[in-house]
Formats: sequence, structure tokens, C-alpha cells
Amino acid sequence: MLYAVLQKLIFVSKLSQKIFLALKVWLCFLCQGTSDFCVSPDKYVMSQTKGIITADIVHYYLYCNQTLSNPFQQPLTIFQRSLTTMQIQIQGLLQFAVPLFPTAERDLLGIQHLLNSSEASLHQLTALLDCRGLNKVCSPQPNWNHSITK
Ligand SMILES: *[C@@H]1O[C@H](CO)[C@@H](O)[C@H](O)[C@H]1NC(C)=O
Ligand SMILES: *[C@@H]1O[C@H](CO)[C@@H](O)[C@H](O)[C@H]1NC(C)=O
Ligand SMILES: *[C@@H]1O[C@H](CO)[C@@H](O)[C@H](O)[C@H]1NC(C)=O
Repeated sequence: MLYAVLQKLIFVSKLSQKIFLALKVWLCFLCQGTSDFCVSPDKYVMSQTKGIITADIVHYYLYCNQTLSNPFQQPLTIFQRSLTTMQIQIQGLLQFAVPLFPTAERDLLGIQHLLNSSEASLHQLTALLDCRGLNKVCSPQPNWNHSITK
């Protein structure tokens, strides 16, 4: 049960990384040409993404305005909280259950390892989803080979 939940969480985080990377590559691609995007980027992006991506997400990445909050903050916070809760539970089991059921130790350590690596990927994802990360990639000279194959 716990394992299935974890695997789902990891899958979701990998999926959102892929979606974000695609969005990033696409936005950076638009930055290059002398298209409508460069003349009136906000109107262009808003019209192109209408219905696909919500306006607050587009606004957030387009302006990278520090007063706008990251639209992904809530799911990230929920993910972080559930990881912390599970870590505390595993810690408790290791402390109190292992003396009684020594054979459980290996599985519990395995789960703890999985939780630790999920936390590491959550931190990476948080950094990736920050609009300042996107702006860094787009300017001044993007390396396409790197961003596409990464
Ligand atoms: C950031 O957003 C706030 C509220 O929407 C606005 O008042 C402010 O002028 C914006 N700043 C920049 C640099 O765009
Ligand atoms: C997971 O992280 C905790 C806290 O950083 C550490 O005490 C524990 O040894 C780690 N466990 C594994 C299996 O990596
Ligand atoms: C990207 O790859 C192409 C060929 O695959 C190469 O010619 C080009 O120099 C590479 N560009 C960068 C920025 O690495």
C-alpha cells in the first residue's frame, strides 16, 4: 500500500518534470525568432496557450514576478508534507518495531531509502519549477542539445 503510493508519487514527479521541460524548451524556442512572440510576447503566449495551460501558470513564467506565487507551490507543499509524515512513521517503526520484528528492518530501510530519494527529486523539481530557473535557461544562449536530451 505505502509502496504503491510512493511509486505513484515518483511517477507524478517524473511526469511533471517532463511536461515542464517540454514547456521550457517550447518557450525558449519562441524567444529565438522575430515572431509575434518577440513583438508582443504576453499577448502571443496567452493566445497560444489558451485552454492548454492555465493563465496563472503562463503569467508566472512569462513575468517571473516575485510577487506572483508559484502555481505549483500547493502540490509541491502537499508532496513534501506527505513525505515528511511517512518519514516520521518509518522512523518510528524502525525504532519500536525492529526490536520485536528484526526481519522487518531490511524492508523498512528500503522504504526509507525510497523516501530519501523522493525527497531529493522533490527538491530538484522545486528548483526546476521556479520561474527564475526558466529564465536562466533561456538567457543568454540556450544549448538546445543539452535541454532536449536531458
Ligand atoms: C508584479 O506584480 C504586481 C501585482 O500583479 C504588480 O503590481 C507589479 O508591478 C509587478 N512587477 C513587475 C516587475 O512586473
Ligand atoms: C534517510 O535520511 C535520514 C535523514 O537524513 C537518515 O537518517 C537515514 O539514514 C537515511 N536512510 C537511508 C536508508 O538512506
Ligand atoms: C548540437 O549538436 C549539433 C550536431 O548534433 C552540433 O553541430 C552543434 O554544435 C551542437 N550545439 C551545441 C550548442 O552543442
